[in-house]
Formats: sequence, C-alpha cells, structure tokens
Amino acid sequence: MNRRGLFVSFEGIDGSGKSTQTRALADYLENTGREVVLTREPGGSPGAEEIRALVLQGEPDRWSAETELLLFTAARRDHLERVIWPALDRGAVVICDRFADSTRMYQGRSGLRRKVDALHDLMIGVEPDLTILIDMDAREALSRAKSRATAEERFEDFGLQLQERMRTGFLALAQVHGNRIRVVDGSRATATVTAEIRDIVEARLA
Ligand code: ADP
Ligand code: TYD
Repeated sequence: MNRRGLFVSFEGIDGSGKSTQTRALADYLENTGREVVLTREPGGSPGAEEIRALVLQGEPDRWSAETELLLFTAARRDHLERVIWPALDRGAVVICDRFADSTRMYQGRSGLRRKVDALHDLMIGVEPDLTILIDMDAREALSRAKSRATAEERFEDFGLQLQERMRTGFLALAQVHGNRIRVVDGSRATATVTAEIRDIVEARLA
C-alpha cells in the first residue's frame, strides 16, 4: 500500500484516556497546518456508526462471539472504504480511537483469535503506521470510565477482570509488534501524556 498520509491508532483499556489524547493530538497537528481526520471505532462512517449502536448497546449476551466479530469487521471495512483510505490518499494524518488491535484483544479473548486474524487478513489487510498504546492500572481506568454515564456499556459491564486481561493482552501485543506499537504510561497528568505522544508522532512525521 502506498498511501501518502500517516495512519495512527490509539489503543488501551476503557478509561485509559484515548478520547482525551486523540483530541489533543488532533488539535496540535491541526495547528501545525496539517489535514487531520480524527475518527474512532467501532464507527467513524455513517454505516459503521449504525453498527456501533448494535454492538455497544443492550445486554452483554446480545450477540454470540462470532456474530460480534463479524459486526466489528463489517464496521471496520466500511470505515476504511469511506473514510480512512480516502483521507490517507489525500495525505491526511488519520487518528483513529481504536482499530484492529481492539478486535484482537476483545473478540479474540474467547478462543477466537485465529478467526480474528484470518478475517482481518481476508477483509481488512492493513495496519496503522503507528499505534499508541495508553497503558495504566485497570482499576483506575475503570473508575475513570464509570464516571461517564452513557448507554454504551455492553463492554464496561464486563468489569474489572476483563479490563485486567485486556491490559495484559495489549502489553503482550506491543511486545510482538514493537516496531508499530509504542507504549505510553497513561496514569500521569493529561498534559504530560499529551507531550510524550506529540513527540512520538512528530518523530514519525519527520
Ligand atoms: P477512553 O477514551 O480511553 O475511554 P477518556 O479519554 O474518555 O478515555 O478518559 C476517561 C475519563 O478520564 C474522562 O473523564 C477523562 O476526562 C479522564 N481522563 C483522561 N485522561 C486523564 C488523565 N491523564 N488524568 C486524569 N483523568 C483523565
Ligand atoms: P470505545 O468507545 O473506544 O470505549 P472506551 O472509550 O470506553 O474505551 O469502545 C467501546 C468498546 O468497544 C470498548 O469496550 C472496546 C470495544 N471494542 C471491541 O470489542 N472490538 C473492537 O474491534 C473495537 C474497535 C472496540
């Protein structure tokens, strides 16, 4: 793939600061005069946002694990076709709050990892140029997340144990993909985290 832009994803458990930090990075890069597309998954395109409501609202057992994997993948394909690829072709910096690593962790958790990887190869086939993994204590992140009241609680309802497993899994993934994934300590003050991420991205752009 030879697209001109830069594709940056943010990963980490719920409440780790992804939304806060993606916004801060987008503001910074826009101020330097770059075109920035700030987006998120699940969602990011009109069709994928409809799928988002299906997967994030309702009872935790609303979908089987397999169906849920297909829904997340369908949403991602639409998001890529309609938003991410066109933006990268224009030379924009695409900042995406969660991408395929979230599927590897969350949908891959129940013995489905091989299916997750196969479906990714078949239908998605791209990785971000750079992934910022915001790492922090699961209990603290969960209490941050819980202080936001939203209807999108299907996953937050899974609780602390899942968050701890996801944290460990994300760190293991960062070991495997050391060239792509940079781990940032999210337990520090917001501005400190923002500054470190800005430096990592600037180095990548230079
Ligand atoms: P995520 O998108 O990863 O779920 P958010 O960016 O929404 O996380 O942050 C979750 C909550 O924690 C928000 O209320 C946010 O204002 C707060 N928050 C984010 N970063 C920090 C930080 N470094 N220190 C303290 N609170 C934070
Ligand atoms: P998000 O809105 O990013 O939640 P938060 O801001 O609390 O981190 O994502 C909602 C949930 O969707 C989150 O718990 C993780 C889950 N998710 C998956 O299970 N698979 C995926 O592929 C993606 C992108 C998200």
